[in-house]
Amino acid sequence: MDKFEVMVTRRLPAGGMELLGESCRPRLWDEDRPAPEEWMRKNAAGADGIVCLLSDRIDEAMMEAAGPGLKVISVMAAGYDGIDVEAATQRGVLVGNTPGVLSEATADLTWALILAVARRIVDGDRMMRAGTFTGWSPTLLVGADFAGRRLGIVGMGRIGREVARRGIGFGMEVVYHNRHRLAPEVEKSIPTHLVPLNELIASSDFIALHCPLNKESYHLLGANELASMKPTAYLINIARGPVVDEDALVAALRDRRIAGAALDVYEHEPNLTPGLAELDNVVLAPHLGSAAVATRHRMAQMTVENLLAGMRGGVPPWCVNPEAKQA
Ligand code: GLV
Repeated sequence: MDKFEVMVTRRLPAGGMELLGESCRPRLWDEDRPAPEEWMRKNAAGADGIVCLLSDRIDEAMMEAAGPGLKVISVMAAGYDGIDVEAATQRGVLVGNTPGVLSEATADLTWALILAVARRIVDGDRMMRAGTFTGWSPTLLVGADFAGRRLGIVGMGRIGREVARRGIGFGMEVVYHNRHRLAPEVEKSIPTHLVPLNELIASSDFIALHCPLNKESYHLLGANELASMKPTAYLINIARGPVVDEDALVAALRDRRIAGAALDVYEHEPNLTPGLAELDNVVLAPHLGSAAVATRHRMAQMTVENLLAGMRGGVPPWCVNPEAKQA
């Protein structure tokens, strides 16, 4: 049997390439930097499937370049904002992603960031390496308390709920904002409750963003929202960079209008908004949310399972547009 032609924009870990190679001929971008658009357009031509990363733009023009044989786009990520799903659906192209499996690792990293910024771990690490620590002091790098404080979660999907559970473990009150209210038994099991977004922003001591990026969430946290945060509050963005207006964030941090921020994602990723790197009240991580061994292994497997199912005429087990099959 002929092998499927597949464009793969990065080598998959954990045996993913071997699994894929059994039934596919990969056109692989084998460098550890983003595949150039021109390379992608050329290698998409005539492909049955595309395996891509969250940072790749798979728009209508890329699908057009692939041609009518394209059956499936499989992204190794939970977020699929890099793919024009509407255009894919119209063309009958199925889109698969890797939700669920990364919720715990991403929630863990959210907490790593909250602790790093609010308990000044990075400042402390710098001090130790610089040899400027002279001994315990009652006033040295004093950070925030968690118990009894309010954690506000924007976007209460699987990751948001895991972050909430961890917040309860720290003795916090957890509120959330979401498009839909959680089922009462889920709210009760965490426990948490829904509040309007403006109330969440104005009353939380820690705000963690876990919503997808779309038209509604673009710049959800802008100058006005940042201005209404408590001056003692922290903002954590592990969702997508453009959910925050980073110019406004730089200004708020520089003027100490909020206590601090921790970011895993960036408005102009992988580039930093000017001014961000000079600030000492922000912790910056290089998009590490799901970067844990077992999580990444499972993500690679799911990516291949989605790809193969779609190319063999089925619906990927984790599919964001199953309706494309009927299109
Ligand atoms: C990471 O950002 C993901 O969407 O999987």
